[in-house]
Amino acid sequence: MTIDKSLFIRALRKEKLSTPPIWYMRQAGRYLPEYRKIRSKFRNFLDMCKDPDVCCELALQPMNRFNLDASILFSDILTIPDAFNLGVEFKEGEGPVFNNPIKNKAIIRDLPRFNPQDLSYVYKCVENLRASLPPSIPLIGFCGSPWTLAAYSIEGSSSKDFGFTKKFISENTEEVHELLDAYTNACFLYLKEQAMSGINAIQIFDSWANLLNESDYKIYSLNYINDLVRKLKMDKITSNLPIIVFARQPAGGIGQFSHVSLDCISLYWDESIDKSISILKNNTAIQGNLDPKILKEDNSVIRKEVKLIIDKFKDYPGYIFNLGHGITPDIDPDKIKFVTDTVREI
Ligand code: CP3
Repeated sequence: MTIDKSLFIRALRKEKLSTPPIWYMRQAGRYLPEYRKIRSKFRNFLDMCKDPDVCCELALQPMNRFNLDASILFSDILTIPDAFNLGVEFKEGEGPVFNNPIKNKAIIRDLPRFNPQDLSYVYKCVENLRASLPPSIPLIGFCGSPWTLAAYSIEGSSSKDFGFTKKFISENTEEVHELLDAYTNACFLYLKEQAMSGINAIQIFDSWANLLNESDYKIYSLNYINDLVRKLKMDKITSNLPIIVFARQPAGGIGQFSHVSLDCISLYWDESIDKSISILKNNTAIQGNLDPKILKEDNSVIRKEVKLIIDKFKDYPGYIFNLGHGITPDIDPDKIKFVTDTVREI
């Protein structure tokens, strides 16, 4: 079987299928003991991301365990800010911390030019992974949305409300647009290199979509996602790759994406399926959106929730089973096996 005939690519081409393809956001990660074993050898998470052989092995771990329908590159969205010399570090229990965050507009003016070759460790991982996966299994490449990357870069770490970032964008609007432009261009060049190295689809993570009100969301995020998608759809090397966007609770809703030439929307776990189906009107494939917290429940509850979702998408052209956000470290891997088996059995 070729990639084009795989369930995942057929769903992205909006084909109605009797069994949906299955993969999970954060399918590789701390909930797997085999991940934790390798992770313990590295102090800084990003050092681990810079080792292509290790990343290839990490991406294959969930594939070997659960026989999933798509593999995702093992890396992080913060590789791009790191390539802009913002000094990204992941501190134990703290998440990402930037040693040189964008704390004033002069830093934006003086940002280095993005050199896609600074991230060659990522492309090497894509090559290794493509060579190791069965020829029928699609490989997903990814990047953060320009806005989500900018929010981390300005705030300098994760935060509950990104208060500094919100103040910064209203006081330095012009420079923030320069930053978003630079990140959009970097995301495009980065994904193009991933494409040349062998990815078969793209996911763009707008994980901090929820920080902005409806009009600011259009101005600071949607416009740049639009621009990135347009660049990808116009370039010979990337034009054939289906594009998925995951946006967490964007003000103004997911209907805004129907004007972008996307292939698939990945629904956050609190998004209504009925409403999403009626808004997207069968024009865009849908991925999602089991609440990751359900994975803490008994198998009978999990089965009920999975069945509810599968029933709702029964007649939908182009459905991919996934969670509504990533697998958290406290999940028992057997629950992922149970969900996977249940989806295939139903
Ligand atoms: O299996 C996969 O999904 C592929 C790998 C992947 C990682 N991060 C590995 C990772 C992917 C696709 C990402 C994307 C990513 N990174 C996002 C978007 C998705 C989302 O969750 O909304 C975001 C916001 C990041 C930034 C990031 N990376 C944060 C905030 C953190 C710390 C929080 C946490 O969960 O620890 C990370 C670290 C990270 N990225 C880990 C993994 C496996 C855990 C690091 C560790 O082992 O210490």
